[in-house]
Amino acid sequence: MKLCMIGTGYVGLVSGVCFSDLGNEVICVDNNIGKINLLKKGIIPIYEPGLSELVIKNYKNKKLTFSTDLKKSVKESDIIFICVGTPTKKGGGSADLRQIYNVSKEISSSINKFKIIITKSTVPVTTGDEIEKILSKKNDKKKFSVVSNPEFLREGEAIRDFTYPDRVVVGTNDKKSGKILKSLYSPLISKGALYLQTSRRAAELIKYASNAFLATKITFINEIANLCEKTGINVEDISIGMGLDKRIGSRFLRAGPAYGGSCFPKDTKAIVSTGDKFKINLSVIKSVIKSNENRTKILLDRINLILNKKIRNKKITFLGVTFKANTDDMRDSSSLKMIPHLSKKGALIKYFDPTGYKKEFSKLKNVTNKTTIKEAVAGSDLVIIHTEWNDFKSINFKNLVQGKKFIIFDMRNIYSSTKIKEQGFKYYSVGK
Ligand code: UDX
Repeated sequence: MKLCMIGTGYVGLVSGVCFSDLGNEVICVDNNIGKINLLKKGIIPIYEPGLSELVIKNYKNKKLTFSTDLKKSVKESDIIFICVGTPTKKGGGSADLRQIYNVSKEISSSINKFKIIITKSTVPVTTGDEIEKILSKKNDKKKFSVVSNPEFLREGEAIRDFTYPDRVVVGTNDKKSGKILKSLYSPLISKGALYLQTSRRAAELIKYASNAFLATKITFINEIANLCEKTGINVEDISIGMGLDKRIGSRFLRAGPAYGGSCFPKDTKAIVSTGDKFKINLSVIKSVIKSNENRTKILLDRINLILNKKIRNKKITFLGVTFKANTDDMRDSSSLKMIPHLSKKGALIKYFDPTGYKKEFSKLKNVTNKTTIKEAVAGSDLVIIHTEWNDFKSINFKNLVQGKKFIIFDMRNIYSSTKIKEQGFKYYSVGK
């Protein structure tokens, strides 16, 4: 089977590389020439543990190729995965599907034999129907099958999530393509992944419903954390106690900053917008979005209280500024709201991130990047642990800085409060 991945973002690049590693011939296509040239040299545009090694290995053994020629690549392939972005439309909440439809039109003029066209991008329910309409204008319906096969991988864990998924969801009513896809995924199924075949529309909705549900779980525990803070309870006990109920499960019950990233904020808005389109009020998800937006304000208020309402000229350090650990992705990171707010209030901010300097803060007053944890925390009044990188998990703050003791606000509940206090630091965490 020859595969073509259109779009070399997270989903397209990771799945393309992993499919090639499973022995398939894969062409990764992108209209960004610069990106394709870098990939050909083994330079990966995103930070993702293990990805670079797999790209180099499979490019060298010729299982993986890169191209900017979409039409030629489609003609040479049997299965085409559409992996382009579906960002939030400007000025609204719905998904902007222009890239999906543009790509579909290009594919449409390159169908020279039977092809399976798959949406791996997160697309609103009924998008597959629209793609089918576009393709039918130029092609006999027997020449292609449009399938939905959402990807559930997480940034930072992408290769493991692709290789050992909980489930593979394939949405198609067409027996032939169902069979082909089951065989494509058989190496993962034989390692324990469950294979679920549904209607195309159901597969499209499973992806949104899953992301909205996970976002709801996080938001739920964040609100419970607020209650814990007022009642002297440790939210981690609540997460464990709830999680032991198999109907609930313990994952995604870690309280912390507002959820961010390239998916949850965008997908929660998009599913609400789909609901509105079909005149269905998805009120739970609407309140999740609102609560998550308010989360940053709650944490900023807490910072204000920790600093006795005196932010001006306070030296504040951020350890980690991306939306979570093990990624260089800044999209919808809560630091994008916190740092500008604190800088505006007159704080002097230093930050250290294992993935380096961030252009997002370049225009802000009094915000500087430091290249070591030590430099970043030196002379600080308040150190905020914003992401849970391993680099931040076993810092001996006492040995790191001599003299002045700063306050630590651990937004990811990494440390034991007793141990930090024993070192002589004031320590605050979330939901305790
Ligand atoms: C998410 C989905 O998990 C994945 O299935 C989908 O394909 C893409 O979107 P990702 O955005 O990479 O993946 O990150 P994820 O690990 O899910 O974290 C999302 C946000 O939730 C982050 O801001 C993270 O810090 C936060 N989070 C996650 C919590 O605050 N608490 C948790 O318990 C889990």
